[in-house]
Amino acid sequence: MTYHIAVLSGDGIGPEIVAQAQRVLVAVGEKYSLEFELTPALVGGIAYDATGHPLPPETLELCKNSDAVLLGAVGGPKWDNVHPATLRPEVGALLPLRRELGLFANLRPATLFPALASVSSLRADIVGGGLDLLVVRELTGGIYFGKPKGRSEDGQTATDTCVYSRHEIERIAVVGFEAARKRGGNLCSVDKANVLETSRLWREVVVEVSARYPDVALSHMLVDNCAMQLVRNPAQFDVIVTENMFGDILSDEASMLTGSLGMLPSASLGSRETAGGRGTFGLYEPIHGSAPDIAGKGVANPLATILSCALLLRHSLGEEVAAVAIETAVSKVLTEGARTADIAGDGSAPISTTAMGDLVLAALS
Ligand code: IPM
Ligand code: MG
Repeated sequence: MTYHIAVLSGDGIGPEIVAQAQRVLVAVGEKYSLEFELTPALVGGIAYDATGHPLPPETLELCKNSDAVLLGAVGGPKWDNVHPATLRPEVGALLPLRRELGLFANLRPATLFPALASVSSLRADIVGGGLDLLVVRELTGGIYFGKPKGRSEDGQTATDTCVYSRHEIERIAVVGFEAARKRGGNLCSVDKANVLETSRLWREVVVEVSARYPDVALSHMLVDNCAMQLVRNPAQFDVIVTENMFGDILSDEASMLTGSLGMLPSASLGSRETAGGRGTFGLYEPIHGSAPDIAGKGVANPLATILSCALLLRHSLGEEVAAVAIETAVSKVLTEGARTADIAGDGSAPISTTAMGDLVLAALS
C-alpha cells in the first residue's frame, strides 16, 4: 500500500525544515518497507505570490485526497499587510485548511527531553523531574470562526463571536478522554465558566462525557489559574483539554517550559479514516512559526518537523514502530549533544539545520 502525503513547505524556514523531515520520512520508509508518495504543493505567502491566494484550490484538493499533510510554516512580514486581511497567510491559508479539512482536534504534546532541562525557562527543581503533558485544543470552533465577525459600517466597532455547540464540545472531549486513558489517566478541562456561557456549556458536556470514562480522573480549571499553574507546577498536568483560543495561548506557554518552540510537533486530526483504515486523516506541523528572521540561513531547528513526522506515522498511518524509531533517534542525537542555535543555551557549539538532519538519519540506521 502506498501512503499519500501532501507536503506543504510554506514560507520562511518552512522549506529548510521540511526538507530535513522529508529525508527522515524517506529513510524510515526504506527501513520499514513503507511506501510514501510525497507530493509538494504551495501554501502561504509563496502561494499568494504565485497564484493570488494563500490556499490555492489545487492545494486543498491535494490535501483532501491524501492520507496526511506535512506542513512547514506560513507567513512573514512580506505578507503582513496584504489586502484584504483575509488573504494573509495565517487567516487565508491556515484557518481555512483546518476548517475545510475538518481538523477539529489539535494535539500539542509538550515533552521535556531530559538532555534539554537546562534550556527550560523554569528552574531545574521545577522541571527537573521531567515534563510530559499534552494539550488537546479544539481547532475549528469558538471565537476564531464564530459569526458575526467584523467591523461596523462606520468602522468604530469590531465584533468577534464565540460559539460552541454540544456536538463540537463532545467530540473534542472524547479525544481528551481517549488520550488521558492511554497516558496518565488524568484530564484537566480548562474553561472560563465563571464568566462565559460557552464555557458553562463546555463544562456541562465534558462532565456528561466523563460518565463514559470512569477510569479517567477529570478536573476543571479556570483558564487564568491554568496559565499560572503551568509555570508554578507543570508536573501536575497530564492531558489538558480546552477550547480554541485558550488552547492557542496555553500551548505556547506549555511549549516554552520544554526549552524551545523549535522542539515541539503537533497533530491536527479530523474524523476521516485513512487508507486501509489504520489511522485518522491529519495535518502535522511544528508548533513554531516561519521565523523570517532566521529564514534562509540554514540554522533553524528541524526537530519539531521531524517529530511531526513521527506523529503522522502514529496517528494517520498506524505505523507505531516507525514513529518510535524517529522519536528514539531524536532523543539519541540530543543526548549525544547535538544542538541547533535555539537549544544551544548550555554553551555547546550550534550545528546547522542540515547537520541536525544528517545526525538524525545516522541515528536511524
Ligand atoms: C497556532 C497559531 C495560529 C493559531 C495562527 C497563526 C492563526 O498561533 O497554530 O497556534 O492561532 O491557531
Ligand atoms: Mg498559536
